[in-house]
Amino acid sequence: MQQRLTLRRPDDWHLHLRDGEMMKAVLPETARHFARAIIMPNLVPPVVTGADAAGYRDRILWAKPKGSKFQPLMTLYLTETTDVRDLRAAAEIGLITAVKLYPAGATTNSASGVRDITKVMRVLENMAQIGLPLCVHGEVTDPEVDIFDREAVFIETVLGPLRQKLPELRVVMEHITTKDGIDYVKGGGDTIAGTITTHHLVINRNHILAGGIRPHYYCLPVAKRETHRLALRAAATSGDPSFFLGTDSAPHLDSAKLQPCGCAGCFTATNTLSILAHVFEQESALERLEAFTSLNGPAFYRLPVNEDTITLTKGTAVQHPAQIDTADGPVTVFDPGFALLWHVSA
Ligand code: NCD
Ligand code: ZN
Repeated sequence: MQQRLTLRRPDDWHLHLRDGEMMKAVLPETARHFARAIIMPNLVPPVVTGADAAGYRDRILWAKPKGSKFQPLMTLYLTETTDVRDLRAAAEIGLITAVKLYPAGATTNSASGVRDITKVMRVLENMAQIGLPLCVHGEVTDPEVDIFDREAVFIETVLGPLRQKLPELRVVMEHITTKDGIDYVKGGGDTIAGTITTHHLVINRNHILAGGIRPHYYCLPVAKRETHRLALRAAATSGDPSFFLGTDSAPHLDSAKLQPCGCAGCFTATNTLSILAHVFEQESALERLEAFTSLNGPAFYRLPVNEDTITLTKGTAVQHPAQIDTADGPVTVFDPGFALLWHVSA
């Protein structure tokens, strides 16, 4: 039985760091293990312009722990009034790595997102020209569409038609939660890839709703039924270069999650790698963990892989904190529901 595993240092291709006190508290959790992360732009107000992204990047670099080499990869939040020249300039100087499409109203802080995709076609054409990836929150927001179907309907009515119109556009379908999403990415050629979160490899919708409601398992896209979780596990552990890790670690104060209308998001930065080692071991795929966490992402983003490594060692149960403290109150760390035996060291 394998007890030790060395990997190139992982990257997180979808991360929420927030800002201010929250960022101060959660950034060390990611910087401890990850070399780089795609930073989500859904602040209030969102990161819309190159100047916004530069300011946010500087605040992250300022807040990161001393001696950390963590590198934030910035994104712009696409709106119907995004300025093409500003976006192209930000891409040319390497300030941004991707642009994020939120359908308006799909998730936390997405009110300024896109209502009518035809209004952003010129921006998307420019992105296709310069090879700048579009990160997509793939859910429709039509209140008539069942929440468990919103990803599949998005593929059919928005993503499919968009990619037919603009086949050169490079797209990351983020936090895939369905077999439909997996199949779509698999059959989509080399202009599309998909990220998979840690928590969606572990929970299905029963974990949220059966035997009591568990707000800390509520995130968007919401976890689906077991067949979908199994499809995600098969894809993540297959080594297929189209799939890589985007934790979607999304911290909210407990006081905001434990409400009659609680926020969506699972906070997994602290224990993600221990959980992933456990999942890959269960699937007899430990030798493919590095592809998922450290190789496939850089290949799609056309970035070099990290040169340094981390080592995972199997031992007695890892003692992760149940909560991270912030100046405004605690944030609960995702509980996978099983003991974690894989320790991470740099
Ligand atoms: C994210 C957040 O809290 O910003 N929430 C979530 O449930 N994943 C937004 C998102 O990525 O959808
Ligand atoms: Zn997210």
